[in-house]
Amino acid sequence: MTNEQGLREIISPSPEVLESAIINNRAVLANMADQDLERFWEEQAKEFVWFEPWKKVLDESQKPFYKWFVGGSTNIVYNCLDRHVLSWRRNKLALIWEGENGDQRTFSFHALNREVCMFANVLRSMGVRKGDRVTIYMGRIPELPIAMLACAKIGAVHSVVYGGFSVEALHGRIEDSQSNVVITCDGSFMNGKVVELKKIVDEALKRCATVEHVIVVKRTGQPVTMEAGRDYWYSDLMGLPVARTANGASRCETEEMDSEDPLFLLYTSGTTGKPKAILHTHGGYMVGVATTLKWVFDLKEEDRYWCSADPGWITGHSYIVYGPLLLGATSFMYEGAPSYPYPNRWWSLIEKFGINVFYTAPTAIRGLMRFGEAWPNRHDLSSLRLLGTVGEPINPEAWRWYYDVIGKGRCPIMDTWWQTETGMFMITPMPETPLKPGSATKPFPGVEADVYDENGNPVETGEEGYLVLKRPWPAMLRTIYKDPDRYVSQYWKRFPGVYFTGDSARKDKDGYFWIIGRVDDVIKVSGYRLGTAEIESALVSHPAVAEAAAIGLPHEIKGNAIHAYVILRAGYEPSEALIEELRNHVGHEMGPIAKPEKITIVPQLPKTRSGKIMRRVLKARAQGLPEGDLSTLEE
Ligand code: WTA
Repeated sequence: MTNEQGLREIISPSPEVLESAIINNRAVLANMADQDLERFWEEQAKEFVWFEPWKKVLDESQKPFYKWFVGGSTNIVYNCLDRHVLSWRRNKLALIWEGENGDQRTFSFHALNREVCMFANVLRSMGVRKGDRVTIYMGRIPELPIAMLACAKIGAVHSVVYGGFSVEALHGRIEDSQSNVVITCDGSFMNGKVVELKKIVDEALKRCATVEHVIVVKRTGQPVTMEAGRDYWYSDLMGLPVARTANGASRCETEEMDSEDPLFLLYTSGTTGKPKAILHTHGGYMVGVATTLKWVFDLKEEDRYWCSADPGWITGHSYIVYGPLLLGATSFMYEGAPSYPYPNRWWSLIEKFGINVFYTAPTAIRGLMRFGEAWPNRHDLSSLRLLGTVGEPINPEAWRWYYDVIGKGRCPIMDTWWQTETGMFMITPMPETPLKPGSATKPFPGVEADVYDENGNPVETGEEGYLVLKRPWPAMLRTIYKDPDRYVSQYWKRFPGVYFTGDSARKDKDGYFWIIGRVDDVIKVSGYRLGTAEIESALVSHPAVAEAAAIGLPHEIKGNAIHAYVILRAGYEPSEALIEELRNHVGHEMGPIAKPEKITIVPQLPKTRSGKIMRRVLKARAQGLPEGDLSTLEE
C-alpha cells in the first residue's frame, strides 16, 4: 500500500511549530528564487567567509558542466571550524559521540579544530597535497569526520568508502580514485561484534599497488597486522612533532580553494558494474547544504541534532559532517546498531543527550517498530521537536508510528528527497509545510522538479512518470570523476537539458511530489543504494557461476531485498551448500548489505535477442505479475 492510498490526511503545522520556525514564508522564498535564481543563492552565499568574492554566481556557458560562485575562493573547513573557533562558539560542543560499548567522547569546536589541524599537518608531512585523493574506510568514530575535515582543510579530495563494504568494493574504489593514502581503523563495534576493517584493507591492498601509506586508528584494540614502512598508528603520528607547527602549536593553515575545486568523491551505484565517483566542490556544496539544513531542520543555536546515517554515505557527508558544522550546531553521532544491546538503544540516546532534531531512514523505523511501543515508551522523548526521514519512500504504517510513538504527535516529519548527486535536499517539507504522509511535498526554493513521460513531455497531474530537475542548484554534482562523458550520458541525455534522477514519481493536484522508486538498475536495500550489475559481477567472480542476474523484490523491513538468479558452470551441481557459499562470497566481495536474500539456480535467464538480461521479466515472474511486453524476448 502506498501512502497516497493509505493516509489521506493533511497534517498542518501546530502554532508552536509555526511560531518558532526559522522559515515561515516558504512561498515568498520560492517566488524570489523563481524570479532571480542567482540573486537568491547569492544571498545565501553571503552567510559564509570567502577569501575572494565570486565574480559570477552561475556560469552556464558549458552546461551541463555548471559552475557556481565563479572566481570566488573559500574553504568549506574554514567555514566549518576556523570561523567558529574565532567566535564565541569556540567552547560550544560541536560533536558528542557514543560508542556501541558505551564509550563517550565530546569535542568543542576548539577541540575538533585542534584534532583536525594536527591530523592535517600529519597528512601534509606524508606528502598529501592539494588535489590528491585520500580513501577513508572507517567505523562510525570521531576520527572519521576528523579525517574528512583534515583532507578538505589542505585541499585533498576525500573518498569515504562505507565501512559496511568489503574487499572488492573497497579495492575498486581505492584503485579508481588512485589514492596514495588510506585512513582506517583496526575495527569497529557493530551489533556486539568487531568488524575487522584493517583486515579488509590488507586484503584489498593485495589487489592494488598505488597505496603508499595506511593510517590506522585504534578503536577496538584487537590484534592487527601492521606492515612496516606502510602502516602507521594514528595516535603515534599525532604525537610526532610533525603534527604541530615549528613552535609546537596545534595549528595548521587552511588552504585557499577555488569555489569549484573538488571537495570529495563519493562512489555510488549506477547502471553499470563500475561504481561511479560523484564529484562535489567546496563553494556551491557548502552553500546548498547549509541553507537546506537550516531551513528544513530548523536548526537553532541551542539544538542538539542527530542524524543516524553513516558518514560513509551522502547523508552523512552533508548532514552529519559538513552541514551541522557549517551552522555551528551541536551534533551527536553513535557508533553502533540501533538495537544493541536492546531495541531501546536509540530512544535511550535521545533521552540521554536531549536530542531535539532526529533524522533517520524508513527502514530503521520499520526495523525498530517491530519490537513494539514498549521500548520507546520507556524513555522520555519530550526533547524532540522535529523528525526527518530519507532514503526511500516511507510507508503509512511506519510514518504513523514515527509520528505518534516517537514524535508523540507533536513533531513534524521532514521527508527529504535527494540523492548522492544532488548533494542537498531537493524535494522536502519545511516545518511550516502542511504534510501529506508519504509525500516529500514540494521542491526546495530554487529547485524546479517535474514528472515527464517517455518523450519528455510533462505527464498529467496524478500520472506516474520520470522525475526530472529543470534548473541547476549549487550543491549539484559537477561530474563523474575521470568520466565526464558518462556524466553527460547518465544524467543529461535522456531528456536533453534537464537532469534525469533515475526515479519515478507522481505529482498531485496540490503540486506535492510522491516518489515511487528507482526506474534503473539500482536497488535500495535498507536505504542503501546498490547496483544490480555490481552484485552480478561479484557473483560471476565465483568459479561456479557462469551468469547471474540480480533484482530487488519488496521486503517488509528493508524496503527491497536482493534476489539473485544464477546459471552454474559445467561441472557444478546445485546444492544448498553451494547457494550459501555464493551468498557468503557476495558478502565477502561487496559487503554484508549486498548479500542476496535468496539465490535461485536456474538453467537459463530471460534475455533479449541482443543478449541483455530482462530483469523486469524476472521481477514480474517472482511476484506473479503480468510479464508485460515480451516481443524482444529471445526464444
Ligand atoms: C531514494 C540518499 C523516497 C530515491 C540521500 C533516490 C527517496 C535515491 C527519498 C538516492 C525520499 C531518497 N523518498 N525516495 N525521501 N530520499 N530516496 O544517492 O530513489 O543514496 O534516487 O541518496 O534514494 O539515494 P542516495
